Amino acid sequence: MKRLLLLLVIASFPAIFFAKSIYSNEQVQQARTVANMVEMIGKWAAQYKGIWIKEAKGEVVDLNSHLDTLAVNLVNQDNSLTDQESVQETLNFHLKNPALVQREISDLMKNDNAKTSFRITSDKYMNPKNSPNSFERKAIETMRENKSSEYFEERNGKMLYARALVATEACMRCHESAQKAPAAVQALYPKQGYGYQLGQVEGIISVQIPDAFGPKTLLAAFDWLSAAIAAIALVLAAMVLRKN
Ligand code: HEC
Repeated sequence: MKRLLLLLVIASFPAIFFAKSIYSNEQVQQARTVANMVEMIGKWAAQYKGIWIKEAKGEVVDLNSHLDTLAVNLVNQDNSLTDQESVQETLNFHLKNPALVQREISDLMKNDNAKTSFRITSDKYMNPKNSPNSFERKAIETMRENKSSEYFEERNGKMLYARALVATEACMRCHESAQKAPAAVQALYPKQGYGYQLGQVEGIISVQIPDAFGPKTLLAAFDWLSAAIAAIALVLAAMVLRKN
């Protein structure tokens, strides 16, 4: 019996390490999928040079939530051009740049208490809401040093993942310097968020996956079939041990 228990303890070590490695790998895959999605959202918005959103009637618009506003006067139904009196309605459109689209979706996911969340951040941030936490700073610095495109670690029971955002020519228009940035960006962020260097890691997509490997996840993975197989294996081991 003693030998059997010893055997059980010894055998469970590699099993747990193996299970942890499979589980953590799975979580990193999950984080990569989220990061891919966020990247695609950014690319989608970038291919239209930002997205124009129509202001709903009577909506109060948060000035920090768009770069530019365009007022469009609707023409008469017969398509003739209108003079001021005959204008039926003015529509306001607001421009959302890609990072803003990504942040708004990130905010929606947080409010929804969705299990997985993400954010876009940089150590040269424009919006203070996007300032990096300690994991995110470490991720940016590590990727800069190692010239790698991802970084992850488990912290406080969570899998934290970062995907590098490398500055391309397209980013420099707004993030190189306040003087060169479009007036709307400059007006919102007169000082910070600038100094990007071409080809450098200047920001990250930061993904958080809850429930890193632990007793809770082991319990959640329990199923009777595996328990039965383990029991049979133990009985077999006991028989072999007794024979020797
Ligand atoms: C049209 C101007 C514009 C362009 C082009 C642009 N950005 Fe931004 N970026 C902004 C603004 C404005 C914000 C702040 C958004 C917010 O309020 O969340 C921002 C935010 C960010 C953030 C989040 C941290 C912060 O600064 O608040 C990152 C990271 C970022 N941009 C990276 C990039 C990268 C990488 C590119 C190129 C692929 C790029 N940006 C192109 C205007 C721009």
